[in-house]
Amino acid sequence: MQSKRSQELFDRARAVTPGGIFDSQRKTEPAMIAFSRGAGSHAWDVDGNEYVDYHLAFGPLVLGHCHPEVMKAVRAQVEVSDIWNAGILEQEVQVAEKIAHHVPSAEKVRFAVSGSDGIFTAIRIAKGFTKRKKIVKFIGGYHGTNDNVLVDIAPAFGKSSGPHLEAEGVDERVTETTITVPYNDEAALSRVFKENKGEIAAVLSEPVMHSAVGCIRPQEGFLEFLREITQKNGSLLVFDEVITGFRHAIGGAQSLFKVVPDLTVFAKALANGFPIAVVCGRGDVMDKLRPVGNVMDLGTYVAHPVSLAAAKATLAVLETGKPYEQMTAASESVQKGISASIEELGIDAHVSGFRSIFVIYFTRHEIRRYSDLSHINMAAAKKFKVDLMSRGILTLPLPIKRMHVSAVHSKADVVKMIDTCHEVLQGLKAQQLVAKA
Ligand SMILES: Cc1ncc(COP(=O)(O)O)c(C=O)c1O
Repeated sequence: MQSKRSQELFDRARAVTPGGIFDSQRKTEPAMIAFSRGAGSHAWDVDGNEYVDYHLAFGPLVLGHCHPEVMKAVRAQVEVSDIWNAGILEQEVQVAEKIAHHVPSAEKVRFAVSGSDGIFTAIRIAKGFTKRKKIVKFIGGYHGTNDNVLVDIAPAFGKSSGPHLEAEGVDERVTETTITVPYNDEAALSRVFKENKGEIAAVLSEPVMHSAVGCIRPQEGFLEFLREITQKNGSLLVFDEVITGFRHAIGGAQSLFKVVPDLTVFAKALANGFPIAVVCGRGDVMDKLRPVGNVMDLGTYVAHPVSLAAAKATLAVLETGKPYEQMTAASESVQKGISASIEELGIDAHVSGFRSIFVIYFTRHEIRRYSDLSHINMAAAKKFKVDLMSRGILTLPLPIKRMHVSAVHSKADVVKMIDTCHEVLQGLKAQQLVAKA
């Protein structure tokens, strides 16, 4: 692969930004790549190398890069407006109506700029509504960059029990109000409710844990249990559907699991890559927001007309239902193909997937919660990703980060992925980097 222009840009970037990268999660390996163009399921870098994209910008691109309907709507919008920050917009009403129509829990809707922004508002609403100070999140759950959720995202395995702050600079006092428990552990959650009686404003959870841990499904009845225990204790259930929403189903993962939370936050897939997020939920809870109630959510760039145009066009395509069939079928074929290679080569690994998202865990051990990830051969998992990238599969070198499939991944893209994974797994085996099953 050519990398001269990418390398030149990286050298320049190092002079103007820490580590030569503008978001520390975006590092590519074996070399830093500068991307320039995307079309459907494919991407190109500044040196002209082509990739099949299984990263999809961490998930937003459900319809693939530069979907014609979405880009047409965006182009039309930039011809007629930038921003207003006054009154309301027709597209705001239209998108909010669509969300209220499709999402079981969405009686009322507000927009936000990013997933982090939306989560921040949802927590504030929950605290304002319940007049309580504490929230519960699950160990291994990432919910954006606010201090109050930067707790126990990726604590070192085997370290003393938490809570552990994710990074320097996070206010230590958040551990007094953010409580963490293992996912899929009903007893632990019951204990926390008992020990903090009348103090918990909300339980915050992804319906399927994807963000920092790959793909951990809720055990049978676990989401129903979350619904019950929050209701019984006067707390709210907040679903973080930043990844799952509009990707797994147009009604969110909540429509698949048939569990209705009090509040939900959506972002990524809603506008196929344009920046917008949504906080929605029960009418009486959402009415805590100003001007009806007294909880604040403001923002200059909230509900940007270009993002709304993209969201409206994305929803119109998703509403046909076809993208879900296409994404799921392509993803399941990839998962089946990789699983077959793992079996054939006798490697200690397994594929964990849910619809269009999957991850390869380099262990046979079942992954039910964060601590189970300690069984994973992280070195092999990272090398697997790096080797895929050097063979033209776009993915980041993060060992347990999920991969995504879009509605426009073709049969050829699926075959390329299966064949490349087979070749890479064979290589890992030959280098004795993976244990035998
Ligand atoms: C589950 C989840 N919640 C919240 C966020 C934060 O969203 P954003 O990056 O748009 O701030 C992310 C981002 O990856 C996420 O995966």
